[in-house]
Amino acid sequence: MRVIAFSNLKGGSSKTTSSLAVAAELARRGRRVLLVDLDPQATLTKSAGLDPSHAAAQYLKGEIEAAAAVLRPEGLWDKPLAENGGALHLVPASRQLVQFEGQAVARLANRLVALLDAVEADYDFVVIDSPPQASALVTATLASADEVYVPVASGRGALDGLVDVVELSKRFGTTPVSGAFATRVNVSSHHDLDLAEYVAQQVAGPDGEGGLKTYIRETVRVRESEMARVPLPFYDRASTAAQDYAALADEIEARPSPRII
Ligand SMILES: Nc1ncnc2c1ncn2[C@@H]1O[C@H](COP(=O)(O)OP(=O)(O)OP(=O)(O)O)[C@@H](O)[C@H]1O
Ligand SMILES: [Mg+2]
Repeated sequence: MRVIAFSNLKGGSSKTTSSLAVAAELARRGRRVLLVDLDPQATLTKSAGLDPSHAAAQYLKGEIEAAAAVLRPEGLWDKPLAENGGALHLVPASRQLVQFEGQAVARLANRLVALLDAVEADYDFVVIDSPPQASALVTATLASADEVYVPVASGRGALDGLVDVVELSKRFGTTPVSGAFATRVNVSSHHDLDLAEYVAQQVAGPDGEGGLKTYIRETVRVRESEMARVPLPFYDRASTAAQDYAALADEIEARPSPRII
C-alpha cells in the first residue's frame, strides 16, 4: 500500500481536484484506492458525489474504528470499478474537522497512522487531501504520508505555497516533498509553460534525477465534473485534464514504493 498526499498551503491550488482525479484514475485501472478527506470544507467528499459526514472527525477523536470511518459508496461508478477489481472508497469530512486544526500534531499523526495500519491489507493506494493553511491537519498529513505531491495552480503567487510545504516538511522532519506539478496550465501562454517547467524542476525524482514531467491543462471540464459530482476520469476521460491526470498517475505508479525497501 502506498500513501500519497496532495498538499499546498495556498488555497485553490488544485489539491482536491488532483486527489480525486488521480485516485479515480488509479481505481479505473483496477487499483483499490481509499481517499481520505481531511479538509473541513469537505470539497473532496462533495466532488466525489457524497454528503459530508463526521466519519473522519469521529475516527480522529477515537469515537469510531477505522472500518466504520470508511464509506463504500454504492453509486454510478462503483460497479464498473468492482468488475475491474478496482475500488474507490472514502473517509468523508465535515466542518467538525476544524477542532483538530490547533491540536497536538503527534496525537493526530498517530491516529492517522493507526488508520493506515488498519487498512493496509485492503488498499493499494491511500490518497489524502489536505486543507490549505498550515494547521495540525496539514502537518499530520505530511507526517503520515509516504509521498507528498504539490500541485501548483498557475496564477499570482503560484509558487509561494510550494515553498511553504517544503519548509514545513523540513521544519517538522516529515517526508520530503516527492514531486511538484503545475495545474490549470494554458498551453497558449508562454508564462504558463515556463511556470510548468520551473515547478517540475523544483523537486527532483526519487532517483535524484528529473522531477515529474506532467502538467495539467486548464479546462472547463474540471468545473463541470465538480458540478455533476462525478470524478473527472469518469465524467470525461477524453478531456485534456483527464488525460493529463492519467499521465500523472502513470508517473506516480512507475515510481518505487517508499514502503518496500
Ligand atoms: N485543470 C483545471 N482546469 C480548470 N479548472 C481547474 C483545474 N484544476 C482545478 N480547477 C479549479 O480550481 C478550483 C480550485 O481547485 P481545487 O478545489 O482542487 O483546489 P484546492 O487546492 O483543493 O482548494 P482548497 O485550498 O480550497 O482546498 C476549482 O474551482 C477547480 O474547478
Ligand atoms: Mg481542496
